[in-house]
Amino acid sequence: MSSQIEKKIIDAYQEKFPLSKVHHERLINYIPGGATRSLSYFKPYPIHISHGRGAYVYTHEGHALLDVTNAYGALVHGHGDPDVVKAVSQGIENGSQYSSPTEGQYRLARLLCERIPGFDKVRFVNSGTEATLFAMRTARAVTGRDKILKMTGGFHGTHDSVAASTKKNVITAGIPAGMTQDILEVPFNDGDALERVVRENADTLAAVIMEPFLGAGGVVLPAPGFLERARQVTSDHNVLLIFDEIFSYRVDTGGCQRLFGVVPDLTCVGKVVGGGLPIGVFGGKDAYMNIFCHEHTKMPLYHSGTFNGYETVMQAGFAALSKFDDTAVAAINMLGDRFQAGLLKSFRSNGLNIQSNQIGSLLNLHFVNHKTTTAAHVQESVEELHSLMHLSLLNKGVFTIPRGLFILSTVMSESEIDGLVDKIDDTLKELLPLIEEKYNHLLL
Ligand SMILES: Cc1ncc(COP(=O)(O)O)c(C=O)c1O
Repeated sequence: MSSQIEKKIIDAYQEKFPLSKVHHERLINYIPGGATRSLSYFKPYPIHISHGRGAYVYTHEGHALLDVTNAYGALVHGHGDPDVVKAVSQGIENGSQYSSPTEGQYRLARLLCERIPGFDKVRFVNSGTEATLFAMRTARAVTGRDKILKMTGGFHGTHDSVAASTKKNVITAGIPAGMTQDILEVPFNDGDALERVVRENADTLAAVIMEPFLGAGGVVLPAPGFLERARQVTSDHNVLLIFDEIFSYRVDTGGCQRLFGVVPDLTCVGKVVGGGLPIGVFGGKDAYMNIFCHEHTKMPLYHSGTFNGYETVMQAGFAALSKFDDTAVAAINMLGDRFQAGLLKSFRSNGLNIQSNQIGSLLNLHFVNHKTTTAAHVQESVEELHSLMHLSLLNKGVFTIPRGLFILSTVMSESEIDGLVDKIDDTLKELLPLIEEKYNHLLL
């Protein structure tokens, strides 16, 4: 049964997307694996997109797919948003980047500082990875300490400090063993472990870095009081608290720190903040960011980069965020709530005991039969079902992230969300015989 279902789904994929195979076979001659980011690759071959418009992307075969990847969260207004397009084309026409401060940097920095409680001052970089790298460096330079505590299941990009782990695997291969010596780890949502490790390492600990909820790690929400406890224990021990809001910023115009009322010392944002163009931002309270300031210190901390504060990106980001105001956020978050309600109904009606974690416009489905509140719970989710669901949804005209993560955009309508729920419902029905045969712990 399981192989029949798998064969049917894979055959349908190959039949519907033959040109993706052609493009893939061309690309593997020049890019190993035919994908320039690990996550884009999947079997039998990745989908190739020719262009996007609004809530949809189009394949080379001409199929429209509802895009619920939205560039891993970087796009919040879908593809080709007219205001972003205008800002980018005017930006490029006027000269795309200058080796000096600009008006665009002023406008975007001011907007972010006005909106996000933890930002007195910010600095721009080109990716989320760079933002966490510099936030951590800032914390280390300010405190004169080396250690950083992170959460198991948290994702902060790909630089060595955040990717390092004592476990050797495809993520950590190539990272020097020594990198782990200054990185401590506790499970997300384990307040006791967090408090103990901070207390025991207070003399050498520069900062705790955490997402307010595990984003890429499965949209795992913070247990009541967990963020407050993180704030309290770090303040008590003079350790800095860094919120990585690169993914979570989109749930509130002030980020999760405004939503949950917990303000960190340093914050990172990115993704939507660049209007779909590459960006990273780190910043925080004056007391810490003044380390970069010529007016406050004789020897400011060095921070440079050819593309930092790229003027066209600043303009695109400002255009995107200006219309991502409280009203727009409330509307997209309501779409997320509608999506969640529809899915929970579908799970019940199919007799499935599976999970869906949602906050605002972000939702992660887990093939797990109990609440997912830790990274370990997320790991229990059934890989085979995720892969088949992903391919089956592509066959039905939905472009998703393979591990069950769905990211909405402001240009989606209620009827598109209802249609999405129906397609997931159809997919679950398709997978039901396989679940009954191999994974009956997921049945009610
Ligand atoms: C919370 C978080 N931090 C950091 C990053 C890394 O950002 P980038 O891919 O722009 O380097 C991501 C990307 O998914 C993220 O979700």
